[in-house]
Amino acid sequence: MPESIRIDRLCKVYRSRDGTDVEALRDVFFTVKQGEFVSIVGQSGCGKSTLLKILAGLLPRTSGALSIEGQEVDGPRRDIGIVFQKPLLLEWRRVLDNVLLPVEIFQLDRQEYEAKALRLLRTAGLGEFLRKYPFELSGGMQQRVALCRALVAEPSLLLMDEPFGALDSLTRQKMGFELLRLWEEWKSTVLFVTHDIDEAVMLSDRVLVMSPRPGKILDTLEIDLPRPREIFVKDTAEFIRHSSRIRRRLWEEDGHE
Ligand SMILES: Nc1ncnc2c1ncn2[C@@H]1O[C@H](COP(=O)(O)OP(=O)(O)O)[C@@H](O)[C@H]1O
Ligand SMILES: [Mg+2]
Repeated sequence: MPESIRIDRLCKVYRSRDGTDVEALRDVFFTVKQGEFVSIVGQSGCGKSTLLKILAGLLPRTSGALSIEGQEVDGPRRDIGIVFQKPLLLEWRRVLDNVLLPVEIFQLDRQEYEAKALRLLRTAGLGEFLRKYPFELSGGMQQRVALCRALVAEPSLLLMDEPFGALDSLTRQKMGFELLRLWEEWKSTVLFVTHDIDEAVMLSDRVLVMSPRPGKILDTLEIDLPRPREIFVKDTAEFIRHSSRIRRRLWEEDGHE
């Protein structure tokens, strides 16, 4: 499988004027294969968002090398879709027009992409809400719109930063399975950041465990649970073995025995 992401000795220091620099990432390296679903788990403040922003070309790195689809990252790109914790929809645009925003920004063919947007929205269960405004939707539905918007220009890589963090746990679980359904259909590479260990195990092919700040990758786990995943896999010994290994790793790293 060709590589989607290659990161080598990536470091990030936030410089501040009063001289109190913050070292957010230290010597991060990993690769992600095309089509792979990889999660990064780590406690709050360990540098997960920093890493994703650097990958998205929204934040400069301090040192190290970084390429996506074989090309060095030096700014935002059309082949990368991003979903943040907040849906960040434009309140004055209807659902369909929100999803088509990247199509306007990248000046793509509206007709062709409108058909794609409609298909995505239907797959995401939003077929009846195309003409609604964001305030008429629940939080989970708004986040699904944001997901469709991230996918509409057919990115080869989808970056997700705690995308379901603001949702209640049942909705969150449901959204995870919807994401998997879309991913199985759309086949992009996914890098998914979360602090929820079970969520990471449920969704991923591989989980990267990150240390507290300065963040580095402590451990990589292959999650060989069968696909398509379904909710009851959570009760299996395999699932519990994976999640408890991650939990233990994070716990030990935090200074506990
Ligand atoms: N723009 C910034 N300027 C200075 N420090 C920052 C900035 N953004 C994040 N940090 C610091 O970098 C560290 C990592 O932050 P972040 O990447 O947001 O962590 P996470 O997403 O894992 O919670 C934190 O200590 C945070 O305070
Ligand atoms: Mg964050």
